[in-house]
Amino acid sequence: MQKILVARPIFPDVVEWLKQYFDVDANQGDLLPTEELTRHFTDNKDGALTAGEPINASVLAAAPRLRVVSNMAVGYNNFDMAAFNAANVLGTNTPDVLNETTADFGWALMMAAPRRIAESEHYLRAGLWQKWSYDAFIGSDLYGSTLGVIGMGRIGQAPARRAKGFNMQVIYHNYHNRTRVLPEIEAKLNAEYVSKQDLLRRVDHVVLVLPYTQENHHTIGTVELALMKPTATLTDIARGGIVDDAALVEALHAKQIATAGLDVFEGEPNFNRDLLTVPNVVLTPHIVSATEATRRAMANLAADNLIAALGEGPRAGRPPNPINPDVIGKARS
Ligand code: DGY
Repeated sequence: MQKILVARPIFPDVVEWLKQYFDVDANQGDLLPTEELTRHFTDNKDGALTAGEPINASVLAAAPRLRVVSNMAVGYNNFDMAAFNAANVLGTNTPDVLNETTADFGWALMMAAPRRIAESEHYLRAGLWQKWSYDAFIGSDLYGSTLGVIGMGRIGQAPARRAKGFNMQVIYHNYHNRTRVLPEIEAKLNAEYVSKQDLLRRVDHVVLVLPYTQENHHTIGTVELALMKPTATLTDIARGGIVDDAALVEALHAKQIATAGLDVFEGEPNFNRDLLTVPNVVLTPHIVSATEATRRAMANLAADNLIAALGEGPRAGRPPNPINPDVIGKARS
C-alpha cells in the first residue's frame, strides 16, 4: 500500500476514505508543526495532502518517494512549482468549489468595513453608547457605487456578479500576463477593463482576488493607496503579500483611504500588529472559504486529486486539478 501524509486535521470521514486506498499518517491532533513536515515526508511517503504548508526543494529532497502533493486550497503559493517540476512531483489544488463562498465573504467585508460594523460593535460592547447622533459611524454606500475588481478570474467574477444587485458600476484590472476576460464575460458582468491606476482613482470599493506570485507582491502599496479616494474601501480576500500591510496601516491612519477589510496578511498568522491600532479596518483570520459545505467540497476535491494522482480510484491517473500536468507519468527525479 502507498503511504501518504495528511499534514493538517481534516474531516475524519475524509481520512477514513483515504485509508481505503493508502497507509495514512494523519496529523489529526494538529501536533505536527510545519517545520517537521520534512521529517515526516522522509518517512517514505508517496503523497501528501496539505493546507498551505510550504513545500519547497529541501522538503522534496528529503522525500525521495513523494510524487504528489494535493493542496486543500485554490491558492498554491506555498508550493515552489519550479522545485516540483525539477523533481517531477505533481501539485494539485481545489479551484472553483469555493468561488461563491469566497465572493460572499468578500462582500461581507466590503459591507462591514464602509458601514463600520466591527468598529461600532466594539463601541457598543464597550458600553460607550450613550445617545443616537446623526454623525456617529458615518460610512459610505455600496449601492450605486463603483466596484473595482483586481484579478477578474473565476473567483473575481463572482463578486462582480453580485454587483448587479447593488446597481454598481464594475471596473476591473488583471495582473501581469493576463489582460481582459472574454468579451462575452465583460458584457455579462457589465464590466469595463481599465488600467490599474485608473481603477484605483475611480473606485469606491476595491476587492483583490488575485493569486500571490512574485510579480503580484505589493500590488497595493504606498503609491497605489495614494491614488485612491479618501472615501474608498480596500478589501483583500486574496493572499498576504499582495498588499503592503505597513503601507496600509499608514494610509488608514492618515485617512488616505476610509476603510479596509482584510482576511489575509503578510506573514500570517503573525500579522503586522500595527493593524490593531487602526479602528477603521475589519480583520478576520483567513476564513474566506470557511463554510461547512465549501470546506467539505475542498477536502473531498483534495482527496479526489490525491487518490487519482497516485493511480487509485475511479479516476486513476486523471486527477481533476493538476497544476503541472506535464509531470504526470514521469519518473520522480
Ligand atoms: C484558498 O483556497 O486559497 C483559500 O484562501 C483557503 O481558504
